[in-house]
Parts: sequence; structure tokens; C-alpha cells
Amino acid sequence: MPRLIAPSMLSADFGNLHRDCRRVNRSAAGWFHLDVMDGLFVPNISFGFPVCKAIAEVAEKPMDAHLMIVEPWRYIERFAALGVKYLSVHYEACNDRRLKECIKLIRDCGMGVGVAINPETPAEVLIPYLHSIDYVVVMGVHPGYSGQKYIPETTEKVAVLAEMIAGAEADCFIEVDGGVSVQNIAELERLGAGVFVAGSAAFSSGDPKTAVRALLDA
Ligand code: DX5
Ligand code: ZN
Repeated sequence: MPRLIAPSMLSADFGNLHRDCRRVNRSAAGWFHLDVMDGLFVPNISFGFPVCKAIAEVAEKPMDAHLMIVEPWRYIERFAALGVKYLSVHYEACNDRRLKECIKLIRDCGMGVGVAINPETPAEVLIPYLHSIDYVVVMGVHPGYSGQKYIPETTEKVAVLAEMIAGAEADCFIEVDGGVSVQNIAELERLGAGVFVAGSAAFSSGDPKTAVRALLDA
């Protein structure tokens, strides 16, 4: 797949949320990435439905919601109703039965199905699910905050995962989330990642248009 950038709206200016959404619309970004945190699965609380709804009003590109919450199965239908196109839940937030239930529900709601894994979770735990999901979210930082330093071991995990996916002949892409920059994006793509979430890299210089271009060209 061609390299796709998904700016994380967690790094947007919430006082100018619609302006920042329009800037993403005008950029070469592929998706909007929505980081939903509940203060339980992760130590931070980000935003919920009202903010996602405000983004949905203006977003002209698909929304990719990343649920960093406990009991994600309770909220899947509500994200679908907001128009979210891709939805990921965390492996660590579910047991096997619940994860299968989430995968089915996300699929039945017509969204792309993603499963995210934390830095300390080995890629191999996803082997049983590779044929039923559309993408894996590999965390490059501990979930909870944008602007953290990239964890270098993530690179090897992407390589392992890409081999696993190829070996299983699964139709599944890899999204890297956290710490993505012009320094590491080319290597991550070479090893098999296709979608790149960018929080601070997309917004810290002001207009994401230039930053997204730089990430695509790096
Ligand atoms: C971390 C979030 C990421 C984060 C990315 O919990 O899932 O999407 O906001 O931010 P950067 O790109 O600054 O690491
Ligand atoms: Zn995220």
C-alpha cells in the first residue's frame, strides 16, 4: 500500500479544532486519527464522543479511532454511528472471547478492524487473529501521551509482524502509532508498515500541511 499519514488530533489545538481539521483536509494526509483515552486503560484522559463528533462534522477524510479504553466492546456501535471508518481496540483490554466479540462487532458495523498492541506485548499474540482483522496498530510509545520518544524495539516488532502476516498469507496492514518522525518513517515502511500516525510530527510546526508532506517525502 502507498504510505499513508494519519495526523493524531490529540496534538491539534482544541481551541481551534475545526481550523486544524480543515488544515488536515488540505494536507496530503490520508486519515484523521482519533485517540480516545479513559484514564483507566491509560493514565490520561483525552476526549470522547462530543469532540469526535466535532471532528466528524468537518473531516473530509476517513476517521481512524484508536480506543485506549477498558471494555471497548461497550462503545463500538457509537463510534460507527459517528461515521468512523477504521476502529482499533487494544489486545490488552480484552480476553480472547471479548477480542473476538469486538472484531465481529466492528466488522458488523461496517468499519475496518484494527487491534493495537502495547510496546511490551509481543507480536506473536496476534497470530490467532490475523485472518479476521484488517490492521495491526503497533505502538511506538507507551499509550497515553503524544510527544514521547520513539521506543527503538518497535522497529524489530514491525519486521516480525510483517513476516508473520506474510507467512500466514493474511490480508492485513501495519499502522505504527507513536514517535513516528522523518527520521524513522522510511525504515518502518521498508520493513512493512503502511500507515503512520503522527501527532507531534504533524502539528508541532503549526500547519500540518508541510509536516505531512515532509513525512511522505522522507
Ligand atoms: C499515544 C497515541 C498516539 C499519539 C501520537 O497514546 O495513541 O496516537 O498521540 O503522538 P506522537 O506522534 O507525538 O507520538
Ligand atoms: Zn493513537
